Amino acid sequence: TRHLLGIKELQAQDIATILETADQFKEVLQRPIKKVPSLRDVTIVNLFYENSTRTRISFELAEKRLSADTINFSASGSSVSKGETLLDTVNNILSMKVDMVVMRHSASGAPHFLAKHIPAAIVNAGDGINEHPTQALLDAFSIQEKLGTLQGVRVAIIGDIMHSRVAQSNIHLLQKMGAEVIVCGPPTLIPKYLTEAFGVRVEYNLRKALEWSDVANVLRIQLERQNQVLFSSLREYNIAYGISRRLLESLPKPITIMHPGPINRGVELDSDVADGNQSIILQQVENGVAVRMAVLYLLANRG
Ligand code: CP
Repeated sequence: TRHLLGIKELQAQDIATILETADQFKEVLQRPIKKVPSLRDVTIVNLFYENSTRTRISFELAEKRLSADTINFSASGSSVSKGETLLDTVNNILSMKVDMVVMRHSASGAPHFLAKHIPAAIVNAGDGINEHPTQALLDAFSIQEKLGTLQGVRVAIIGDIMHSRVAQSNIHLLQKMGAEVIVCGPPTLIPKYLTEAFGVRVEYNLRKALEWSDVANVLRIQLERQNQVLFSSLREYNIAYGISRRLLESLPKPITIMHPGPINRGVELDSDVADGNQSIILQQVENGVAVRMAVLYLLANRG
C-alpha cells in the first residue's frame, strides 16, 4: 500500500508529479461542474484526533469533488473517551469497507505507526510537531502559481519553527525542489539541533530576513504546544517579529506573504498585511483542495 506520511519520504519527481496533477484539478475546479467521477468506488475516512478547520474541510471537499464516499471521525464525541485505542478505532472503521484514511493526530509518528499495522492507504494531515505534507505541497503550488517556479526562489519561514510541522515539511520540500530557505524567529523557538539537522540558515533579524526574501511564510506561535514560556509576551513577540504594513513597505522590493492559518492577528501578522495585496493566504486555502485531490487520486493509483 502506498501512503503519504511526510515530504521527507518523497523524491523531487514525486513532488513534481503531485504539483502537475494538482494543476489539472485546479482547472477542473474553475468549471461550472467541479466534480469528476475518478474515485466513485473509493470510501475515505477523515480521522481527526486534533482540531482543524482548513485541512479537514479541504480534504472533505477534495474527496467530494472526486466523487468518493466520505465519513468524518472526530476523537471528541467518539468512543476514544471510553479508552478505545487508535488501532482498534481504525480497524473497526476499516471493517465497514473503508479504503483510505486521512489522519491528523497530536502524536508525532501516529500515521507511521498506523501504516505498519493496517492495510489501507494513509494520508498524514498533520502529526504532532513532525510533518504536515499536504500543507507544504499546497504552499509550493501557491508559490509556483505566483512566481512561476520554485527553483531559486528565496523563502523565509518565520516564527515558531520548533513546534511547527508546517516548517519541517516546507523545509524538506523547498530544499528538494531547488528553492533557497532560511528560518527566522527568536532563538528560543529555533533550536540548533533542528537547523543543523536540516542544514538550513538562520537569520534572527526579521528585517534582514525579509530583505533577502521573495516569499515570507509566516507561522503562528503555537501556544498549545509550549510547555514553558519561550518568549516574554505576545506583545514583545509582535514588536520583534510581527510584520506590519510599514515594515513591508520599507523593504527594497515587494515580497509575497503566506500563512498556513489560523492567524493570530496582531501577533505574527497585522491585519492590513494578512488582508493586503501582497498576501496569498486565501489562495493557499483555495489551492489546498486541488492539491489534496491530486494526492488522493495518485494514492488510489488513478494517475
Ligand atoms: N493550516 C492548517 O493545517 O489549518 P487547520 O489546523 O485549520 O487545518
